[in-house]
Amino acid sequence: MHSDPAPIAGTIASAGVQRRRRWAGERLGYAPRPVTAPVVSVSGLTKIYKVHERTTGLGATFRSLVRRKYKDVPAVAGIEFGIASGEIVGFLGPNGAGKTTTLKMLSGLLFPTGGDAQVMGHVPWSREDRFLRRMTLLMGNRTQLVWDIPAADSFLVLKQIYGIGDAQFTETLDELTELLELGPLLHKPVRQLSLGERMKVEFAAGLLHRPEVVFLDEPTLGLDVSMQARIRTFIKELNRRSGATILLTSHYMDDIVALCRRVIVIHHGKILYDGGLTDLAERMAPYKIVGATLRDGAIGRDLSAYGDVVSNENGLVKLRVPRADAAERTARLVRDLEGGLADLSLEDPPIEEVIDRVFSGEKLDDHRPAAVPEGAVR
Ligand SMILES: Nc1ncnc2c1ncn2[C@@H]1O[C@H](COP(=O)(O)OP(=O)(O)OP(=O)(O)O)[C@@H](O)[C@H]1O
Ligand SMILES: [Mg+2]
Repeated sequence: MHSDPAPIAGTIASAGVQRRRRWAGERLGYAPRPVTAPVVSVSGLTKIYKVHERTTGLGATFRSLVRRKYKDVPAVAGIEFGIASGEIVGFLGPNGAGKTTTLKMLSGLLFPTGGDAQVMGHVPWSREDRFLRRMTLLMGNRTQLVWDIPAADSFLVLKQIYGIGDAQFTETLDELTELLELGPLLHKPVRQLSLGERMKVEFAAGLLHRPEVVFLDEPTLGLDVSMQARIRTFIKELNRRSGATILLTSHYMDDIVALCRRVIVIHHGKILYDGGLTDLAERMAPYKIVGATLRDGAIGRDLSAYGDVVSNENGLVKLRVPRADAAERTARLVRDLEGGLADLSLEDPPIEEVIDRVFSGEKLDDHRPAAVPEGAVR
């Protein structure tokens, strides 16, 4: 069995190669990207952790010192996908689905048990310097900065590690300082920063070398809503300015909705869905939500014959109706209620609900409300 690769900095520190590439398209205006092979391609990728089985009881503990027992924990079970240059893809799944394990393999921190992956043509776990200089992995729950010194000092260390030239370093840092509003944060010891401030500084540290591929593992974890929104705006701007390809995990659907047109959903180490975020609702939740706002005279009318009543508050009744029947049912509702209806909306269910249903593997077709008889307002 391989032992997993050494941390990135150790390898990079010994290399000292200078990079002069600018972020593609940066400050030069947008240049259309040529159609190329996927920047990230994954095939049959598998990771099985070997975990020491802990035993209870003194005798068993002594025996386990002599002969350790291991059990297999399958974390990633043969996944396939490709990501094109400049895409932002959301990588979704419940706790323990295998997201972080996948990102660690793709960034060269873990050897896989099987399968293949290429990132910009490199096999990540070979950890070539050229590869490490072209990508970054940022984890919301890990720090790459030294706690007791200001971030500005850590940045100088990263400058040396990555062999970033003076001009590029100043230019990149200025740009990141402006985008992330880093200003005074750079000169305080990292340990004095709030979680949100630290996350902004972490982003700057991870992007100083202008990576072309950015893996983000829960970058907004634990942040308040306004800081989450700022980080989101930054990620969008980073992608727009630099053309960086981004694979992002987040448990906050607002992040995914704001940033990702495409999502890959993973559960128990297997891919459940790979496609458009909007198609996800269509494919996985074959129902829509009708919102009927009733006028005073109609408030209290029972609309359950038109669909499952999801909520009924202050005259706004929300009904879940089968997607295929949505148009016909709303038309009938309008006709039957006549002047009793003040407003009507037809929407996809909230994305959180769709995702929950995907994760739970629920059979959505079983939730169709009973057929509505003609003129059925009661
Ligand atoms: N170092 C490890 N040793 C043994 N098992 C591990 C290790 N890291 C993760 N696992 C297991 O592998 C599975 C996948 O874990 P992983 O961290 O990839 O999930 P995740 O999708 O990132 O979850 P979360 O949303 O909670 O971050 C889980 O069952 C986890 O317990
Ligand atoms: Mg994780």
